[in-house]
Amino acid sequence: MTSLPTIATVIGSGTMGPGIAATLARAGATVRLYDISDEAIARAESAYGIVTGVLEAVGSPTVPGGSVSFGTDLDEALAGTGLIIEAVPEKLELKQKVFADIEARVGDDVIIATNTSGIPITTMAESMSHPGRLIGMHWSNPPHLIPMIEIIPGQATDLALVDKLVEIVKAFNYTPVVEKEIPGFVENRVLYAILRECMALLEEGIVTPEGLDACVKWGIGYKLSVVGPTRLLDMAGLDIYQAVSSYLNKELDVSTDTPQFIKDKIAAGQLGFKSGGGMYEYGEGDVDAKRKEIITGLIAARKTLSSIPNV
Ligand SMILES: NC(=O)c1ccc[n+]([C@@H]2O[C@H](COP(=O)([O-])OP(=O)(O)OC[C@H]3O[C@@H](n4cnc5c(N)ncnc54)[C@H](O)[C@@H]3O)[C@@H](O)[C@H]2O)c1
Repeated sequence: MTSLPTIATVIGSGTMGPGIAATLARAGATVRLYDISDEAIARAESAYGIVTGVLEAVGSPTVPGGSVSFGTDLDEALAGTGLIIEAVPEKLELKQKVFADIEARVGDDVIIATNTSGIPITTMAESMSHPGRLIGMHWSNPPHLIPMIEIIPGQATDLALVDKLVEIVKAFNYTPVVEKEIPGFVENRVLYAILRECMALLEEGIVTPEGLDACVKWGIGYKLSVVGPTRLLDMAGLDIYQAVSSYLNKELDVSTDTPQFIKDKIAAGQLGFKSGGGMYEYGEGDVDAKRKEIITGLIAARKTLSSIPNV
């Protein structure tokens, strides 16, 4: 007997919504993907075919009976639902308005999970009539490829809900990671610690972007795709960690603001893939080609990592 609710609703069909919906449908749920925008729904319908193709390519098992329907009618999207996953833009007031609209339409026992990247669950829940049913469920992008979800209860979250959501996540074969509430949550804190040091090394001209990418990808990412950082320390030896961290930690970047060269790039309209240039420059067709290479790489890596023991 699966813990996955028969009907689930995803609110917001932008970057994250379609992949979340497809993952739940693949595991057998009837999923309703809702958005306020007709254009967003139309884009999601075409994105859905691509997402499903990716799930096929990674060999994700299909539980019969799952489906996704798309729409802009909130009452229809919420009828009979057992799990609501909110994935609207990262704005506190907007999310609180969405929770109010939802609470006016569903029973007190329906779980409301938010995919916020970092707004405190406790703050979001303050405006709710049943704050105990709000919980953080942070999917990593692309959500249909990264099989790990951070689960973050706020101060008011009903603790039984944590266990329930853990079982739901396991029911679609993802790994749940339960955390205490902290700004940025765990995944982004670690990523941003790495990025801070990387940007400082670039700003100081210590290494080129190409060199940095090769060093981090092979020297760190390759190992960390097989072992986590704590197991890595056991491999290296805690005494070695002490020897190095005792002199190196004080050398590491501790700046609290975004580096100036990044601010300059943004001011010059260099935003990355979306503007055709950022850390690297892209010619005609390069961005599409890079996006395809990245997805192909992620599919291959996920297949390999799924086939080896979890060490
Ligand atoms: N993009 C990422 O990499 C990523 C990763 C993890 C978590 N998140 C989080 O997930 C959430 C969604 O992010 P995204 O990147 O998918 O955003 P997005 O801007 O791509 O999409 C948001 C969608 O929500 C819709 N929307 C706006 N108001 C709405 C409302 N009242 N009701 C229903 N739909 C509404 C918009 O039309 C849009 O289609 C954010 O909280 C974000 O921080 C994003």
